[in-house]
Amino acid sequence: MKQIVRNVKIIGTGSFVPEKVYTNQYLSTIVPTTPEWIFENLGIRERRIAGEHECTSDLAARAGLKAVAHAGLKVDDIDLIIVATSTPDRLAPSTAAIVQDKIKAYNAVAFDIAAVCSGFLFGMSVATQYIAAGVYDNILVIGADTFSKITDWSRRDCVFFGDGAGAAVITHGNVNEGFLATRLYTDGRGKWHFTIPAGGSEHPASQETVKNKMHYFQMNGSEVYQTATIVLPKAINQVLADTGLSVTDVTMLIPHQPSIKILHKTAELIGLPFERVMTNMDRYANTSGGTIPILLDEVNRAGRLKPGDIVLFAAVGSGWTYGASILKWS
Ligand SMILES: CC(C)(COP(=O)(O)OP(=O)(O)OC[C@H]1O[C@@H](n2cnc3c(N)ncnc32)[C@H](O)[C@@H]1OP(=O)(O)O)[C@@H](O)C(=O)NCCC(=O)NCCS
Repeated sequence: MKQIVRNVKIIGTGSFVPEKVYTNQYLSTIVPTTPEWIFENLGIRERRIAGEHECTSDLAARAGLKAVAHAGLKVDDIDLIIVATSTPDRLAPSTAAIVQDKIKAYNAVAFDIAAVCSGFLFGMSVATQYIAAGVYDNILVIGADTFSKITDWSRRDCVFFGDGAGAAVITHGNVNEGFLATRLYTDGRGKWHFTIPAGGSEHPASQETVKNKMHYFQMNGSEVYQTATIVLPKAINQVLADTGLSVTDVTMLIPHQPSIKILHKTAELIGLPFERVMTNMDRYANTSGGTIPILLDEVNRAGRLKPGDIVLFAAVGSGWTYGASILKWS
C-alpha cells in the first residue's frame, strides 16, 4: 500500500467585521482610560462591536462564504468546517454546526475548536492533517469571536478586544508549496490568567454568578505580556529550525494581535524588522480567534502575497495555548 501524505495550501480567504465602531474616545467616556494610553500601550484606535442580535455564527458565516467564493468553490465542495471560537453562540450545538446550516454547506462535517486566541492556528493544524492524509479535499477553517458579549463594559480592560471573523479554505498542493511546519503547545499551568469563570460545569449560570460578574472575561495583563514575549519567540524559532529557514527568509509575519508592545518585543527577540510584521489592531483591536485570518485576508486581497513568499503565523492565547507555522505561498 502506498502511503499518501499530501502538501496543504490556502486557496481562498475571507473576513467580516460588524458595522458598529467603538473608538478609544468613546471608551474614555465610559471607563477611566484615555485614547492616548490605549493607542500607545496596545496599538488600538477603534474596534468593531457586534449588534445585539448578531452572534459569532453570523460573523463566521459571512467570512466563510467570502472565503469559499474567493477559492472559486461552491459550498457543496466543502468537506469539513472547523470554527475556532471561545465565544460560541451556545454551549450546544457547536457554532460550526450553526454555520454549516447558515451557509447551507450540507456536505460538510462541522465542529468547533477551543484554543481561544490560538484557535485559528490550532484549527488550521487539525485541518491540515485531514488533507495530508487524504481524508478530505477542501476544508473551511474559520476563526470568529464576539468578545463584546463577555466584556464588562464598566471595567477599563474593556479596551482590549473587538469582534470579527476570518476564514481560509485549504486544499492539497504540490510538494514545493503550502505548510512547511507547524508547532502547537499547551501549558495548562497558566489556565487562570485569562478565563471566563462561569457558564460551564464548574459554575453553572445562577443569580450568584451573574451578580458576581463571572460571565465576563478576567485577564491578568502582566502575565499575558510576560508569557507572550517568551512563548511567541520560542514557537517561531522552533518552526524556523524545523524548516531550516532563517528569519531573513521570512517575507512577513502574520501574528495574533494581542498588543503592539508584545508584537514589537517579539519582532525584536526573533530579529525580524517590524516592517515585516503585519498588524491591523489599530482598526479592530484583538478579535481573538479572528485576528490571524482577518489579517491574512486583508494582506491577501491587497495583493501583498506573491508565489514563493514565506509566511510565518504565530499566536498565543488562554490556556496557555500557543504555536507557530510557516507557509510557502503559491
Ligand atoms: C495591560 C498592560 C499594558 C498593563 O500593564 P501592567 O504594568 O502589567 O499593569 P498595571 O495594571 O500595573 O498598569 C500599568 C499602568 O497602566 C495603567 N493602565 C492599565 N490599564 C489601563 C487602561 N485600560 N487605561 C488606562 N490606563 C491603564 C495603570 O493605571 C498603570 O498606571 P500607573 O503606573 O500610573 O499606575 C500590560 O500588562 C499588557 O500590555 N499586557 C498584555 C495584555 C494583552 O495583550 N491582552 C490581550 C491578549 S489576552
